[in-house]
Amino acid sequence: MRVLSGIQPSGKMHIGNFLGAMRQHVALADQGHECFYFIANYHSLTTIQDAERLAGLTFDVALDYLAMGLDPNKALLFRQSDVPEVTELAWILATVTGMGLLERAHSYKDKLNHGIRPSVGLFTYPLLMAADILIYRSNIVPVGRDQVQHIEMTQDMAGYFNNTYREVFTRPEAKLNEAMIIPGTDGQKMSKSYGNTIELFEPAKQARKKIMSIKTDSTPVEDPKDPDTCNAFALLKHFAPADETKAWAERYRAGGVGYGEVKKRLAELFEATFGPARERREALAARPDEVEDILRAAGAKARAVASEVMDDVRAACGITAKQGRPA
Ligand code: TRP
Repeated sequence: MRVLSGIQPSGKMHIGNFLGAMRQHVALADQGHECFYFIANYHSLTTIQDAERLAGLTFDVALDYLAMGLDPNKALLFRQSDVPEVTELAWILATVTGMGLLERAHSYKDKLNHGIRPSVGLFTYPLLMAADILIYRSNIVPVGRDQVQHIEMTQDMAGYFNNTYREVFTRPEAKLNEAMIIPGTDGQKMSKSYGNTIELFEPAKQARKKIMSIKTDSTPVEDPKDPDTCNAFALLKHFAPADETKAWAERYRAGGVGYGEVKKRLAELFEATFGPARERREALAARPDEVEDILRAAGAKARAVASEVMDDVRAACGITAKQGRPA
């Protein structure tokens, strides 16, 4: 089973990103699947048009994943742009894909609603994403719910190509990341755009302050409380062992728990999870050449796979060196 996913660099990783995607990526690699994870820097050009910032954010994703325990011997972690053939494939897919398919994309409309400039690249984003997936003949694509339509479009595009020429592409399947809504410090969904995130690698003190400021209601300590509507509990349950979570839930219902006590424990658990990773990240950041070597080596391996598939693609549609008038 070949697993593939793309991570668009968008700033500092927060708890929501970690629980929603990163943790599954690391686990799939540990389970022994053949994993291809790339940093989608070509895609980021649709929103980040500042060379230094894009290069920096790209590197940050690599540091974040390696620090959180992605083993570069078990998974390929590379830059999308180290396999430039994906842009070639995106073009070829564009020639077999109808306008209507892209016009139905929800995420394009969402992005316009968020004020992102409607460039041609933003509109054709799903073509490049399909190329990312198909060029490695990926079987499984772990993504969030918001990306499912893109995977369905990829399946359609694989079909258009295969029907037009011949069976070159494998049909990929989406694997939904565990559906969960992670609340931010204000209780809304944790998201960079709401300014309510707790970042994985922010200084311990600052993270603790944010955790202590998580919005909770004003039920007095002695009163019974509903754990399922509490923002602090909603985070705690992802970090505490199952039996501890169960004990907290019982104490909530019985009454006698103060939110401050819960948050303190959450801060402890947060530090236990991310403290060592923060140190690993700092160590890696001090050795950028090593990280660069990891990215390059993985990129070269991914490119070798992509090159073979592209030979097949080009041959299938008549873009070959042998083409032309016989000598
Ligand atoms: N669009 C994805 C996101 O925003 C990132 C991405 C780009 C991707 N190419 C991909 C994800 C290929 C999975 C497979 O999260």
